[in-house]
Amino acid sequence: MKIIFLGAPGAGKGTQAEIVSKRLGIPTISTGAIIREAIKAGTEMGALAKKFIEQGALVPDNVVIGIVKDRLAESDCANGFILDGFPRTVPQAEALDKMGITLDKVLSLEVADEVIIDRMSGRRVCPSCGKTYHVTSNPSAKGEDCEACGTKLTVRADDAPEVVRSRLDVYHSTTEPLKDFYQAKGVLATAVGADSIEDTTERTFKALGI
Ligand code: AP5
Repeated sequence: MKIIFLGAPGAGKGTQAEIVSKRLGIPTISTGAIIREAIKAGTEMGALAKKFIEQGALVPDNVVIGIVKDRLAESDCANGFILDGFPRTVPQAEALDKMGITLDKVLSLEVADEVIIDRMSGRRVCPSCGKTYHVTSNPSAKGEDCEACGTKLTVRADDAPEVVRSRLDVYHSTTEPLKDFYQAKGVLATAVGADSIEDTTERTFKALGI
């Protein structure tokens, strides 16, 4: 299957994408994760993207489209993939169309802004392997260390409350209109993501028909 996860920052796209990826045996492509890796590695693209991410703004379309085009050309995407966090603008969605990709489903995870702001304050991430946790809803079995690799967990720089508010503004003004774009193509599905991770997974599977 070729699936897109849409949704506000912190709606649970990455969490659900990881679960669906395991169930269907297809890779997840997270543009946010690829960009953070580039920043960590100190690449030219990372240096360019850093100032946008820190402000909660979107990285320019041409940069992100290039990243996705290259990644989708890799062999593990041949039988399907999940795009987490791409597209986020109408030009990005049009670029995906131009790549000749036929999507099976675009799943929008619906979560109110107040829930998001509360949720983001509890997110912890592993700076080494990228695994995501939450202090109450999804804690690491190793407390403040990553249960997968043992690295000390950190807070993402763009999870500061003022940056989260900017990211939510960008989501509503620029990314949310993609729901209409994909509704018109007949591939949009929605799932409420405000309850527990398990409840959201159940709704996600149902919405995807898997
Ligand atoms: P990105 O990393 O994609 O961030 P985002 O879309 O803002 O989404 P998040 O990763 O913050 O949240 P999520 O929805 O994956 O939630 P998660 O599962 O982690 O992008 C970062 C930046 O990169 C952007 O701001 C932009 O600058 C740039 N960028 C990326 N893609 C781009 C593009 N296409 N174009 C331009 N720029 C781009 O869950 C959040 C927390 O909640 C976790 O702690 C989790 O454990 C917990 N949780 C999850 N589900 C639940 C639940 N149901 N109940 C309770 N807790 C839950």
